[in-house]
Amino acid sequence: MKQKILSNEEIAPGIFRMVVNMWKEAQKACPGQFVHIRCSSSNDPLLRRPLSIHELIPETVGVLYRVVGKGTDLLSKKKRGDVLDIIGPLGCGFRTKPAVEPVVIVAGGMGVAPLLFLAQSLMNVDRHMRAKQALPQNRLASLPLQRRDVRVLIGAKTREFILCEEEFTKLGCSVDIATDDGSYGQEGYVSSLFEESIRKKKAGQVFACGPNAMLREIAAMSARRAVECHVSLESRMGCGVGVCLGCVIKTKGKDGISGYRRVCRDGPVFDAQTVLWDEFISRL
Ligand SMILES: Cc1cc2nc3c(=O)[nH]c(=O)nc-3n(C[C@H](O)[C@H](O)[C@H](O)COP(=O)(O)OP(=O)(O)OC[C@H]3O[C@@H](n4cnc5c(N)ncnc54)[C@H](O)[C@@H]3O)c2cc1C
Ligand code: FES
Repeated sequence: MKQKILSNEEIAPGIFRMVVNMWKEAQKACPGQFVHIRCSSSNDPLLRRPLSIHELIPETVGVLYRVVGKGTDLLSKKKRGDVLDIIGPLGCGFRTKPAVEPVVIVAGGMGVAPLLFLAQSLMNVDRHMRAKQALPQNRLASLPLQRRDVRVLIGAKTREFILCEEEFTKLGCSVDIATDDGSYGQEGYVSSLFEESIRKKKAGQVFACGPNAMLREIAAMSARRAVECHVSLESRMGCGVGVCLGCVIKTKGKDGISGYRRVCRDGPVFDAQTVLWDEFISRL
């Protein structure tokens, strides 16, 4: 797809929100899915870069990204009106259940990227209603908000890297913040907020995205309380569509038998209890 860029703004140091025109396939996107973007018109870098779908609002698709290397640096230099070569939506997203509450969303740093779209989706209309009404995602924003108990916990190093607090609040989620240096919200890691939250009230489902060490902790805490937890994982990607096997990780089935799964096709969202965390973290 070739889509026109509508805006590309730096919203925090080194962090950009890019909005492009909607395309047909993106109307059916699910939270947790990603797009694969060609960052340069030359062959350098050759490979596309994966970015989660951050928000779908009528007629537009947004991504939120941090500049970490050549590809994201090139992206950050693109201007309104430039055309972006983009494939997607790709992968399998978060598997939400309509009647299960409270939903706890845990975002560490840039992990907030796919989780705003998840909250939008949870607060607007559940999957069953969407299927019933055959409603495209880009019309969800015009529907009345649902009253759902969605708790969002956001963590970052410092105050300036706390992203999307206002957007989650406007959706009707309760939001709690932790910063490593205590410059905003509670001092410490977001995993401590999570522990307090599930101690006070058991979560129905947990969805998390962020640094791997954080995800491992959230997975372990959820397992101890027998709470279903889904995590969005990152891996270096080649094709993005399940062919090259460049993104495989070793996982275990619920019966304990392990096997290889593709982050791009079988994920990027996985049941946290199927991830072999030591192996996943040491491979990066
Ligand atoms: C499914 C998926 C969704 C993603 N969504 C987002 C998002 O919404 N916002 C965002 O900012 N980033 C996201 N990422 C990470 C993003 O794809 C990488 O930061 C980007 O590809 C880096 O490209 P680059 O050319 O700028 O950096 P490179 O020059 O390729 O690498 C710079 C540094 O980043 C590390 N890195 C690069 N790619 C990855 C990766 N996939 N996983 C872990 N480390 C990596 C490298 O090891 C290196 O240290 C996502 C990754 C995946 C797999
Ligand atoms: S990136 Fe090619 S199989 Fe996943």
